[in-house]
Amino acid sequence: MPKEATPKDTLTVTDNRTGKTYELPVENDTIRAMDLRQIKVKDDDFGMMSYDPAYKNTASTKSNITLINGGQGVLRYRGYPIEELAEKSSFLEVSYLLYNGELPTRSELEGFRYQITHHTMVHENIREFIDAFRYDAHPMGMLVSTVAALSTFYPDAKDVEDKHTRQLQMYRLMAKMPTLAAYAYRHRRGLPYVYPDNDLSYSGNFLSMLFKMTETKYTPKPAIEKALDVLFILHADHEQNCSATAMRGVGSSRVDPFSAAAAACAALYGPLHGGANEAVIRMLNEIGSVKAIPEYIKRVKNREVRLMGFGHRVYKNYDPRALIIKKLAYQVFDEVGKNPLIDIALELERIALEDEYFVSKKLYPNVDFYSGLIYQSMGLPMDLFPVLFAIGRTPGWLSQWEEMLTDNEQRIARPRQVYLGAGKREYVPISER
Ligand code: ACO
Repeated sequence: MPKEATPKDTLTVTDNRTGKTYELPVENDTIRAMDLRQIKVKDDDFGMMSYDPAYKNTASTKSNITLINGGQGVLRYRGYPIEELAEKSSFLEVSYLLYNGELPTRSELEGFRYQITHHTMVHENIREFIDAFRYDAHPMGMLVSTVAALSTFYPDAKDVEDKHTRQLQMYRLMAKMPTLAAYAYRHRRGLPYVYPDNDLSYSGNFLSMLFKMTETKYTPKPAIEKALDVLFILHADHEQNCSATAMRGVGSSRVDPFSAAAAACAALYGPLHGGANEAVIRMLNEIGSVKAIPEYIKRVKNREVRLMGFGHRVYKNYDPRALIIKKLAYQVFDEVGKNPLIDIALELERIALEDEYFVSKKLYPNVDFYSGLIYQSMGLPMDLFPVLFAIGRTPGWLSQWEEMLTDNEQRIARPRQVYLGAGKREYVPISER
C-alpha cells in the first residue's frame, strides 16, 4: 500500500535549471515572495522574484477591514454584510466601524458624530484658492488640490506615529471632504459658497452646501438624504483597490494623511476607477435609445469600446453593491421622477447578462453602472460623480492607512522590477550622434 503523504503547510518547488528543491512555508494560502530569493542558479545571483504586473495575484498586506469574495458576490466590512449595513446603519456608524473595527455604542456614535460635525469648516484661504480655479475646472481636480492643501493648514498631521494625532486628522478629513466637494461644485456653477449647517446629518448638510439658495434654512428631502447616505456606505471601502493602494503606498513614506489622501483621490479620478460612473452616463447618452443597443454591443465585441460600469478585477459575479443601488434608484425616482436613461441601462444589462461574450468573461454590472443614474436624478452634474465617490471612500482610505501604519510588517512601499533595457553603453557626445 502506498504511504499517504502527511499534509504539511509547505510548498515544494523544484528549480529545473539546477535540479535543487526548496520547501517554502505556506501561510493563509500564500507563500512569501521573499522566500523565493533563496532560489539561485549561481551564488552571486540576486535570487528569484515573482513577476506580477498590476498586482493581479499579489497580497500586499494582511487586513482585517473588508472581505470581498468576488466569485460569490460577497462584500463585508469588518465581518458585517454590506446588505445589512446599507439597510440598518448610517454612513457615520459604518465609518466608525471601518476605522475602529467595532460598531459604536450609542454614546460612541454620538461622540463621533459630534467630532465630525464640529470639524466641517475649512480655513477661509481654502475658499479663496478654490476661487482661483478656472470657472470650468473639473471638481475632481479642485478636490485633489484642496485635499492636498489641507496638509499646509494642519502641520501637526505630520506626526503620523501618534495615534491621537491620526484620529484628529481622521475627523478633519471626514468632516471637510463634503465641504470641499460642495465648494468645488458651487464654484463650477458660479454660486456663492454655503457654510456647513451643524443641525443637519452628514449627508443632509452636504445637500445643503450643494443646493441651498436664498432660503434661510435648507431642509433636505428625507428620501434623497437617505439615498445619499446609503450610497456613501456602499462606497466606504473596497479593500486593496487602486486608490486604497495609492493611500497605503504614498502613506508608507510616512507623509501626512492629507497628502496621501490627495494621491488616493487622484487615483480615483481615473476612468477605470471612480470615473466610471461618469463614463456610464456618457455611454448611455451616446447609445441614446433602446433600439441602438445591439449596435453598441457589436462595437463592444469588436473591442472598439468597453461597456462602462461592467466588469471588475475582483467580482466575477454580480457586484452586491450594484443590486442595492438598483433598488435605491427606484426610491429616488419615486421622489424626483424617473431618469429616462434607466430604460437603456436595464435593457443593456439584460442583453449583456445573456450574451456569451459577457457571460464567458464573467462581466457583470459593477457599483458604477447605476450610481450615476441616481446622482443625475438628484440634479448633480456628471463631473461631480467621482467627487461623491471620494467622500464615501474617505473612511476606507483612512482605515487602510491606519492599518498600514500599525502593521509591523509594513515598510515603505517599494516594488522591484525586471530590467530589460540596454546593457552598459558608451556615452556618445551630442556632436557625434
Ligand atoms: N467591456 C467589454 N469588455 C470588457 C470589459 C468591459 N467593461 N471589462 C473587461 N472586458 C474584457 C477585456 O477586453 C478582456 O477580454 P480578453 O480577455 O478577451 O482580452 C477581459 O474582459 C478581462 O478584462 P481586463 O481588462 O483584463 O480586466 P481587468 O481586471 O484588468 O479590468 C476593469 C477590470 C478595469 C474594471 C474592466 O472590467 C473595465 O475596464 N471596466 C469598465 C470600466 C469600469 O466600469 N470601471 C469601474 C470598476 S469598479 C470601480 O472602480 C468602482
